[in-house]
Amino acid sequence: MPGFELTRRKSLHALAGFLAGSPLLQSQLDPVRDHSRIPGLKELLTSYEFEAVMYAKQTRPVYNYRAYGEESEFTLRRNRQAFDWVKLVTSQTSTGNVTTSTEVFGTKMAFPIMVSPTALHGDLDRDGEQSTHKGAEAASNTPMILSNNSSLAFDKVAAAAKSPMWVQLYPKLAMEANQSYLEAAQAAGAKAVVVTIDQQASVYERSLHDRNLNAGGGRGGRFGGPAPVVAGTNPYRVSGNRLWYEWKFFSEIRPFVKVPIIAKGILTPEDAKLCLENGVDGIYVSNHGGRSLDYGPSTLEVLPEIVEAVGGKVPVLFDSGLRRGSDILKALALGANAVCLGRVPLWGLGSFGAAGVTRVLEIMQAELVEAMKQSGCTSLESINRKIVLANFP
Ligand SMILES: Cc1cc2nc3c(=O)[nH]c(=O)nc-3n(C[C@H](O)[C@H](O)[C@H](O)COP(=O)(O)O)c2cc1C
Repeated sequence: MPGFELTRRKSLHALAGFLAGSPLLQSQLDPVRDHSRIPGLKELLTSYEFEAVMYAKQTRPVYNYRAYGEESEFTLRRNRQAFDWVKLVTSQTSTGNVTTSTEVFGTKMAFPIMVSPTALHGDLDRDGEQSTHKGAEAASNTPMILSNNSSLAFDKVAAAAKSPMWVQLYPKLAMEANQSYLEAAQAAGAKAVVVTIDQQASVYERSLHDRNLNAGGGRGGRFGGPAPVVAGTNPYRVSGNRLWYEWKFFSEIRPFVKVPIIAKGILTPEDAKLCLENGVDGIYVSNHGGRSLDYGPSTLEVLPEIVEAVGGKVPVLFDSGLRRGSDILKALALGANAVCLGRVPLWGLGSFGAAGVTRVLEIMQAELVEAMKQSGCTSLESINRKIVLANFP
């Protein structure tokens, strides 16, 4: 019927009229309706806010793989809780300039902060660890430890890197595999080798909820989903390539490692001493961010006794649970020479790529300076046990 034909023009006109009067469109334009708006990079003020943005921007399995801890996640929670048990007690405030630069194994750092090794940055950003490194470099050359399970090989990341990089190793049964990996990394510029010795389980319960979203994907798959429940070559739910190595592993790799060797995952003074006896050059106190044995202690609780056992013979690094500059100050006061951040830079990467890594690290650096000022510490050397009151249960 003439006059009633539905032309493309007419239907678009009708749709525009409908939308203009629609409450749906009104709510989109409402400037105060910001509860569903993802904030921009410059609006974020704390590391925690980056986590929320990463949660909003990434798929659930990708977020979950970064978030979860082992089993009941007791240790994951305790890593955070432990910082509440350490008070900063000094009342003296410093108005002078604060200096934060240090050096660990010849690696110069503007702040005693490094990026922990974490797997599969390619899930979070197209350029994977290259973006993380670029972002860390822009934050006063923050050194980065590249994971053994990285999305990109060490030499690919190092090729564009100006700031220092270390490499992390999960011991392999075949010694040639350790040798070729470590030699390649050293040739590409790795300044230290971090050997992770904690036993990471193959199954994280929180990730089991993702299994329908990630058919066929194992831990470390594109979506970082769960490993199969019946895993690998041993019956303990620990990945088949763990639970075999002994302390002598350190002396076995020494012939082809020309840079310092650091043991990551140390949680007892006894193990710290065994590391020293077996030729380790540095101790890295870590519980894998609550992803290793659950119901283990938080790292902050065990740090003082490990520092005492090490007795200043080698540097002590620390991670697990750090989210604030004041957390870093507490770890330094309890004896760490430098700290590493695991999830915090991942939140930066997963929310705004390299720029997010830079910003979140800058926030942590600025918070550390602020906490030092308020505690009357103008240098790293002036940070000591006197500024903290630790009351671990
Ligand atoms: C998603 C994720 C992946 C990780 N991958 C590795 C890894 O490949 N190698 C390693 O030694 N540690 C790995 N870790 C442990 C970190 O190096 C670090 O010990 C831990 O994240 C510190 O705790 P935080 O996340 O509370 O800072 C990983 C941690 C997370 C959260």
